[in-house]
Amino acid sequence: MDKKKSQLRDGAHFGELFYSSRDAMNIYDENGHIVNSNPRASDMLGYSHDELVRLSGPDIIHPKYHAIFEQFLHDVSNKGEFCAEAIDVRKDGSALNIEVWGTRILYDGKPRSLSVVRDITKMKALENQLAEELKEKQRLIEKLIQSHDLNARQISRELHDTIGQTLTSIKMDVENILAKLDLAEFPLEKNLISIGNKTVKAIRDLKDINVLLHPLEFDDLDLIGSIRDFLSAIQKSHKIQVQFFTRGMTHQLDHEKTFALYRIVQEAFTNILKHAHATRVFVHLYEKKDYVALTIEDDGVGFEIKKLEADTLRDKRLGIHIMRNRAIEHSGYFSIDSSKGNGTVVVVEIPFV
Ligand SMILES: Nc1ncnc2c1ncn2[C@@H]1O[C@H](COP(=O)(O)OP(=O)(O)O)[C@@H](O)[C@H]1O
Ligand SMILES: [Mg+2]
Repeated sequence: MDKKKSQLRDGAHFGELFYSSRDAMNIYDENGHIVNSNPRASDMLGYSHDELVRLSGPDIIHPKYHAIFEQFLHDVSNKGEFCAEAIDVRKDGSALNIEVWGTRILYDGKPRSLSVVRDITKMKALENQLAEELKEKQRLIEKLIQSHDLNARQISRELHDTIGQTLTSIKMDVENILAKLDLAEFPLEKNLISIGNKTVKAIRDLKDINVLLHPLEFDDLDLIGSIRDFLSAIQKSHKIQVQFFTRGMTHQLDHEKTFALYRIVQEAFTNILKHAHATRVFVHLYEKKDYVALTIEDDGVGFEIKKLEADTLRDKRLGIHIMRNRAIEHSGYFSIDSSKGNGTVVVVEIPFV
């Protein structure tokens, strides 16, 4: 043992490192037998040093990772290095996640394989917890989007059946009164006309909301046609020039993807009408090799992207968040680019498969 210590010490301070390292280190011969191990290896695995030097790699490695150990021996002697994650088994049978680096060293005058082993059990547990939390968050967002769609459908129907009907009948009443009145004798005529105009505006606003909320019918797969209808409805009621370009578009998208893209267009226009004060909007829909791309570019006031995260959290702003998630749900890409005074561009890419 002492002899070995001094041999290790000869090797450019390697010995110091070996005995004081916070990572476990084992030195293996070409058959995978442990020829030396450091104190940390004993701590980690629960074997004494004397026990360890009577063991081989597979005795301390989970059976699922025996092939990795073979790879370790092979790579270290052929390429001089190795790195992997694996699971070790302690003397008491419990398992620990490890990260292992391998390197070739000269030990006792012979070429040997050194493994440097770090216990990453805690990190793995945290990683798993984080992955679980992310999954949970994704599930919540999916639920939110679903209920968002459901609500949109309900709200759109409710608005039409209730307020929409009432407004239409007010408008008709006003028109009837105006038709029967002798206007010259009626001093409040102007007010009545103004009520009529406001009612017409309210009906238009309501139609707008319905257009922005309007869902696709379930069997409607005509994305281009649906977007075109949507855009012309927007143009009819707003002083905004919308240009729609499509190119390629030979792939038939499934309903879910069609729905997602259509919803993103609606959400982007909800923002444009609400925030942008734009005069022109360009919508491009085109195919690339294996995905469909959509860009929506307005020439409006823009906003500071940096503030978006904070605003989203503080004010529960969800529009952009939901757009992004609709793209991500289909393994797609989403980006929004904007700056004050320079308009806003939304880019979405959704792969065909
Ligand atoms: N096209 C746009 N032009 C200008 N500002 C925009 C545009 N789209 C989004 N924004 C800004 O980003 C913010 C977040 O948008 P969003 O997530 O849809 O939430 P909301 O529309 O409910 O405010 C908006 O409040 C607005 O300040
Ligand atoms: Mg919005």
